[in-house]
Amino acid sequence: MTLHEFQQACDALRADAPARIAAALSLEAWHDVRSAMVGRKSGRLTELMALLPQLDREERRDAGAAINTLKLALEAALEARKAELEASAAPALQRDLTMPARALWRGAVHPVSLVIDEICDIFRELGFTVALGPEAESPWYNFTALNFPDDHPAMDMHDTLYLQDGGVLRTHTSPVQVRTLQSYAPPVRILAPGNVYRRDFFDATHAPAFAQLEGLAIDEGITFADLKATLAHFARAFYGERTPTRLVPSYFPFTEPSGQMEVFFDVGDGRGARWIEIMGCGLVHPAVLEAAGLDSEKYSGWAFGMGPARIAMSRFGLTDIRLLYDSDVRFLEQFA
Ligand code: PHE
Repeated sequence: MTLHEFQQACDALRADAPARIAAALSLEAWHDVRSAMVGRKSGRLTELMALLPQLDREERRDAGAAINTLKLALEAALEARKAELEASAAPALQRDLTMPARALWRGAVHPVSLVIDEICDIFRELGFTVALGPEAESPWYNFTALNFPDDHPAMDMHDTLYLQDGGVLRTHTSPVQVRTLQSYAPPVRILAPGNVYRRDFFDATHAPAFAQLEGLAIDEGITFADLKATLAHFARAFYGERTPTRLVPSYFPFTEPSGQMEVFFDVGDGRGARWIEIMGCGLVHPAVLEAAGLDSEKYSGWAFGMGPARIAMSRFGLTDIRLLYDSDVRFLEQFA
């Protein structure tokens, strides 16, 4: 036997090993393949090793190294196959392809937040930015600066939640008007979303804590026409291009004249299209501008306040406001 013949025999064993190992489809078959290839008694590798003494001393060294490398390669390939076979022989339960998949939860933006975001987007295009104010407010910002007379019924303990230090939980976002005008010189165009609190019972149409969204535009020469055109633009952008809008007279101490904007809209509750109120609004009262330190002869402007929960109810056809507070996932996940 020559070294060349010996190497050819090694190559042949190496060449057909992958196919033979892969053909072992069970652990029993694997054991058979293993003993046929590297088994101590009758394996082909052992047979080759038995031929080593027939080689010259010099050749034996190279041949020995070659057969050792081959042995390691075969054993690694055999072990890998064994691991595969053992994995697929795992308990049947783990391989039950009919088992239901785990449900994937998808988070959803709350409908009230959806509405606030959408309204802010519409006004952002008109140059409005977002401003915030505190929820624990002083009666001065919440009432006095907004031109409420001292005996106004809204200030009554029956309607307002007073704090022990004499503050109030703000009953509307309008105090942000005054705070903003104290800090920024006109022109001012802001939206102020936030939570407000009233001493109300919790029923289908009222909540003691709810979101409001305030808007304010102050500059030189702003008129009621600006208010009407801007709010009508908003209503059409939000409810649809063909939505009719109208302003009807109303009253707030901090605006003069005051109005409420209504849209003719089908909220989808089965009662058909009708006029629905979407916000209170008006020209900012000169007394409010003066309280904030502005010259009411020079500056004028308008403001509005809306309730995003009510807007969401009209938009999504909801008849009970409590759906927006219950955190019922079956309801909320519809907005994902
Ligand atoms: N603050 C008023 C309310 O809570 C809404 C409003 C804001 C009205 C701004 C006019 C101007 O009902």
